[in-house]
Amino acid sequence: MTKQRSFAPLRLCVRLIHIFTNTMKLPPGPKTPFWLIQQQTQADPFGCLDAIYKRYGDIFTIMSGSTPMVLVSHPLGIKQIFTNTKEITATGALNRSFALTTGNQGVLQLDGFRHKHRRKLLMQAFHGERMQACGKRICELTEKIINQQVIGKPFVAYPTIEDITLRVSIEVVTGLQQGEQYEKLRQLFSSLIRHTQSPIVKIFRNLPFGRQDLGKWSPQGYLLHLRQEIFDLLYAEVKERRKQADPSHNNILSDLIFACDETGEPLSDEEVRDLLLSPIFAAQDASATAIAWSLYWIHRLPDVRARLLQELDSLGESPDQMSIVALPYLSAVCNEALRIYPTQLFTFPRLVESPVEVMGYELSPGTVLIGSIYLTHQREDLYPEPKQFKPERFLEKQFSPYEFLPFGGGARSCIGGAFALFEMKLVLATILSRYELTLVDKRPEKPKFGGLICYPASGVKMLMHGRRQHQGQSQPLVVGSV
Ligand code: HEM
Repeated sequence: MTKQRSFAPLRLCVRLIHIFTNTMKLPPGPKTPFWLIQQQTQADPFGCLDAIYKRYGDIFTIMSGSTPMVLVSHPLGIKQIFTNTKEITATGALNRSFALTTGNQGVLQLDGFRHKHRRKLLMQAFHGERMQACGKRICELTEKIINQQVIGKPFVAYPTIEDITLRVSIEVVTGLQQGEQYEKLRQLFSSLIRHTQSPIVKIFRNLPFGRQDLGKWSPQGYLLHLRQEIFDLLYAEVKERRKQADPSHNNILSDLIFACDETGEPLSDEEVRDLLLSPIFAAQDASATAIAWSLYWIHRLPDVRARLLQELDSLGESPDQMSIVALPYLSAVCNEALRIYPTQLFTFPRLVESPVEVMGYELSPGTVLIGSIYLTHQREDLYPEPKQFKPERFLEKQFSPYEFLPFGGGARSCIGGAFALFEMKLVLATILSRYELTLVDKRPEKPKFGGLICYPASGVKMLMHGRRQHQGQSQPLVVGSV
């Protein structure tokens, strides 16, 4: 410890030299202050990124204080970010800001061997048999929630879909399907997401004192209160589940309780709790956003909807899940929705650990590297007419993991990518084949950047016209039925 302290000034000098020399060789980029770029991205995420790309191209630097952040959108640069694990690391310290909601030992905060090991534990949940059981529940929950919409009354798609994806995520992660604990968790997660998305809370949290806990009635205080309630509830559930010691693993919580760490010791209750948080948030929020955007595009473009319905109808009245998931046009529509407006605009940050050349620039240690998912997906050379929603491009060409990357890649690639696509397809197929919906608003839906996820700004307002019969006949729904 003492030894470390005595070297601290030297290390700081070396780092400053690196930063200084780095500044000389960094890719050019906007001189606008970081806080202003953040504000511009919040107001018009795609417009802001498009403008920077137009001026600076495939690789550019944005300074966050004295830290250079290099954003890359060329597949060669993306490949390096995902595959060069020697000079570039997916260090967990860069994701500390998410610890407020994911806990200090969540997978996002880990790196190295421990990160790899915990990812493997979490990913056990997404294998064939369990996915199939889950598919049935996804379709049931979708029917139950969409059936509650009243004919002729507009509803907002994002929170409605979020109700489905939150229920699914709590079931997959904790195994709870009903009861007091389940209801409490559902309400707490929903309140936490709503609170963090509120524009007033966002403005308040950007003020100098906005991140101080001024009691339960202040934005930060309320956030911490909700977080504590979720932590307490999950912690109690972990303890309770250990007592039951049910070895029939069918959810992530049971997997983790029976799992051992790299030294062969069981994971602590705190660690199990923290590991459960990111998958619940991601499976609720990112999936709901992707499905809401897909509903928007499908209902905005009559030809896309008609072709999709034709494909779905070709499977008969009660198709099995696996036939739905394998449908080529449905897959192409989901991919195109994730391409044009990717749910996550950027990969999580990576850190240059030792000097490395990326796209002709020598980057020094301390430089942060970020894959710009949105800008890669907007490249004319890969996706002609990139602003047009054209699912056919995914039928005509296969894209590499460095050209199409909605789930990121490399060491920190999304652990739930396959599950998210499975859920997207089943929710969309259930809604489209069973209900007649239209968009309320004729104007284009605007994007809204929430710091990590890019939401449809007005949530996609839709109108329920009734139940759709196979082959396109409509039949009225029983109003308000469940
Ligand atoms: C359409 C839905 C989803 C999208 C678009 C999405 C996208 C992403 C992206 C872009 C990353 C960062 C990858 C990188 O930095 O290279 C990521 C990471 C992650 N995702 Fe997803 N995700 C989705 C759904 C899910 C689901 C359903 C789960 C869990 C069940 C999940 C769990 C995670 C976790 C835990 C990480 C962090 C992995 C790590 O730190 O090692 N995501 N996701």
